[in-house]
Amino acid sequence: CLASGNAGAQGAYPNHPISLVVPFAAGGPTDVVARSLGASMSKTLGQSIIIENRTGAGGTLASQHVARAAPDGYTFLIHHNGMATAPALYRKLSFNPLTDFAYVGQVADVPMTLLGRKDLPADGMKDFIKYAKENGNKINLANAGLGAVSQLCGMLLQESLGVQFTTVPYAGTAPAMTALLGGQVDVLCDQTTQTIPQIKADRVKLYGVTTLERIKTLPDAPTLQENGLKGFEVKVWHGVYAPKGTPPEAVAKFNEALRAALKDPAFTQKMAELGAEIVPESKQTPQGLQTWLQSEVDKWGGIIRKAGVYAD
Ligand code: MLT
Repeated sequence: CLASGNAGAQGAYPNHPISLVVPFAAGGPTDVVARSLGASMSKTLGQSIIIENRTGAGGTLASQHVARAAPDGYTFLIHHNGMATAPALYRKLSFNPLTDFAYVGQVADVPMTLLGRKDLPADGMKDFIKYAKENGNKINLANAGLGAVSQLCGMLLQESLGVQFTTVPYAGTAPAMTALLGGQVDVLCDQTTQTIPQIKADRVKLYGVTTLERIKTLPDAPTLQENGLKGFEVKVWHGVYAPKGTPPEAVAKFNEALRAALKDPAFTQKMAELGAEIVPESKQTPQGLQTWLQSEVDKWGGIIRKAGVYAD
């Protein structure tokens, strides 16, 4: 009968679509991971996962939205290092990454690449360093705002080279990449989950990768460290969060679906092609994410405060 049908539907979690909030523009690196992950997880959950792109303020508007959302198991957030850098970058943050969320688990680690527009008059990293020092703030560096990993990478790059570029912020690196391809900006540091197709199609200049070792998917690309930027490393990690107070059963079920996705070839093969590495099982848990987040808040907080970069 209708009544028992309703009761059954209400009892089983999840009984309607789930929203997964992405803090940056559609088509960009975070969105690519989220959509592929959501498609795989929805097979386990038996419900669709709807991707909701909530852009602005380097990802902090999305985090704020999820921190304040109803803790009913139907709103989740996927975010990267920006979750850990926000407290140091934003003096007036309306949420606390360490106390306002329930933790689901980590997903994948992604290298970044330093790119120039196709006709930038610098070939190779050595040449780029010379060009950067000679042209300084005449060079336009695109990023996705304070709290984006493109900003973090650009900040470290300028510090290491002792130069100041002109920064041009976008709602994500998808529109930043469009600007690079169109020649409206000169330089972009961005994740391989978006850049590999552009690099393979030879639409951009690749100067190097931001990992300490070369990566399998781009074996010919030198590391920035090989070219004189000693110790230069930015690795992007992803966590899945829910509002604090989300029922533990819902978090457990979402985590189970997450861990299944991290073994699903439909997801893992796509990530491998895009240079991303699935995290070990110890990081796929709520505890694994929470411990890691704390260590990243400490690490980046120190680096950012030293650099003196922040928004009031
Ligand atoms: C994006 O998805 O647009 C990027 O992750 C933004 C960034 O952090 O650079």
